[in-house]
Amino acid sequence: PSHKDFLGKQLYNYQGCWYYPNTLQGVLNFQKGFKPQETDIILASFPKSGTTWLKALTIALFERFNNTSSSNHPLQSDNPHGLVPFLEMSLYHKTSTPDLTKFSSSPRLFSTHMPFHTLQAPFKDDSSRCKIVYVCRNVKDVLVSQWYFRCAYLGKEVEDKSILESSFESLCSGVGYFGPFWENVLSYWRGSLEDPQHVLFMRYEEIKSEPSAQVKRLAEFLGCPFTEEEHGSLDKILELCSLRSLSSMEINKTGKTSNNLNHSSFFRKGEVGDSKNHLTPEMETKIDMIIEEKYKGSGFKY
Ligand code: A3P
Repeated sequence: PSHKDFLGKQLYNYQGCWYYPNTLQGVLNFQKGFKPQETDIILASFPKSGTTWLKALTIALFERFNNTSSSNHPLQSDNPHGLVPFLEMSLYHKTSTPDLTKFSSSPRLFSTHMPFHTLQAPFKDDSSRCKIVYVCRNVKDVLVSQWYFRCAYLGKEVEDKSILESSFESLCSGVGYFGPFWENVLSYWRGSLEDPQHVLFMRYEEIKSEPSAQVKRLAEFLGCPFTEEEHGSLDKILELCSLRSLSSMEINKTGKTSNNLNHSSFFRKGEVGDSKNHLTPEMETKIDMIIEEKYKGSGFKY
């Protein structure tokens, strides 16, 4: 089935998720060509849920073993999305056999917005199952973040409420880029319950409220836990990956992604509950009702 989105662009449904045609081609190329390695790490999310932050933290977790100074850290030379490319929107976008030589060192870090079942296609047996980290965020904040991001993308004034309204409609109907939101979240939530060794489920709000504990949890899951002596390095990682620090790096102030998005558009306010400042009570009530219905019986709470 196909449908038009808020830009009038055609969306297609594949395995329960909506894509633009070129992204769908990337998904198909990925499913055909990706050969997982046991040491691979895939960072997954619904767009605007904290993907950039999770990428930066994961890069910094592994980079600590190289004792890199903050001035020549990889995060200073490329945006987190350049360092941890999207499988379907970048690496496999145009080919099922991309050149992966730049990932010669282990672990290879990839990212995706595909739902869990779609990502699982190339993982045929246990030995090839790599680690997957999913970051989830309160859907109302995701919606507001998406609104700002779309306004920036279109070069519009942020006050353009029509974009908020169309994004809201698309969220509620589930017909939107990588939607439905709740299917994306629940697919990984179930994956993490079934296979906690391979799927870690994180929440943006928890990383904000208890960053040390959550980054330690991430490090343990990824097999690179912090030792007692390493407390200073954990603090340094949190500082380096803070929104203030990342957004003030030259590469993030001036650069653009391979699909021509300003790096700076990935950094805005980074607050919990910003939706309260923008959504009407009616919008909030409708989202609450939909989410309650969609999550019913799943055991998932937000
Ligand atoms: P806001 O628009 O609410 O500020 P994604 O990376 O998935 O595209 O999500 C973008 C959201 O994450 C934006 O939210 C952005 O400000 C926030 N973000 C980006 N980097 C962050 C960081 N280092 N710490 C906290 N939040 C961050």
